[in-house]
Amino acid sequence: MSKPRWRRAHASDLEAISAIAARIHPDLPESPSVLAEKMRLYPDGCRVLAAGNAIAGYGLAHPWMQQRIPPLDHFLDRLPDAADCIYLHDVAVLPEARGGVARSYVAEIERLARSSSLATLALVSVHGTRVLWERLGFQPVTPDAALSAKLASYGANATYMLRRLAP
Ligand SMILES: CC(C)(COP(=O)(O)OP(=O)(O)OC[C@H]1O[C@@H](n2cnc3c(N)ncnc32)[C@H](O)[C@@H]1OP(=O)(O)O)[C@@H](O)C(=O)NCCC(=O)NCCS
Repeated sequence: MSKPRWRRAHASDLEAISAIAARIHPDLPESPSVLAEKMRLYPDGCRVLAAGNAIAGYGLAHPWMQQRIPPLDHFLDRLPDAADCIYLHDVAVLPEARGGVARSYVAEIERLARSSSLATLALVSVHGTRVLWERLGFQPVTPDAALSAKLASYGANATYMLRRLAP
């Protein structure tokens, strides 16, 4: 297999993205049309990990508001006018392609945030990935009451995390 590399996701990648999502996150199902909306609203943040002709993973991110999370499997409808972070909705990679690829995806999103004058990255850690995200500079943030209620839909150990980008 050639060395996988991140590239911008195209509409034709949706089937592969959905298949990987269903395999990696069977407990957090989202319909393909919900994933496709993110690609349409913010193509710059949506990447696939291309390994030759195959897709080995995806990362979806979009501008959002701190202390807010979009409900799973719901349309965003539009991006907020007053976005103050880039929210990493999900990064999922097939086991055989892992190793350094979350770091490289986050580096690409960091560049994107800086070029959009957004100084914070946000995410919800699931599947026990909190330590991994800490390695990438994210820190757990105490959720406010509204966020706590919404986090429950992401599973028992879901943790809201932020990374402030150094100037
Ligand atoms: C999350 C995922 C994309 C990470 O891919 P990856 O290529 O293994 O990630 P990286 O190697 O870039 O990891 C980033 C850092 O975390 C470390 N790390 C990786 N897995 C780890 C783990 N299980 N526990 C602690 N640290 C971990 C890496 O060593 C690396 O640190 P380093 O660069 O200082 O050595 C992959 O594990 C995955 O698809 N998991 C299932 C889906 C998922 O849970 N996604 C996250 C949703 S919030």
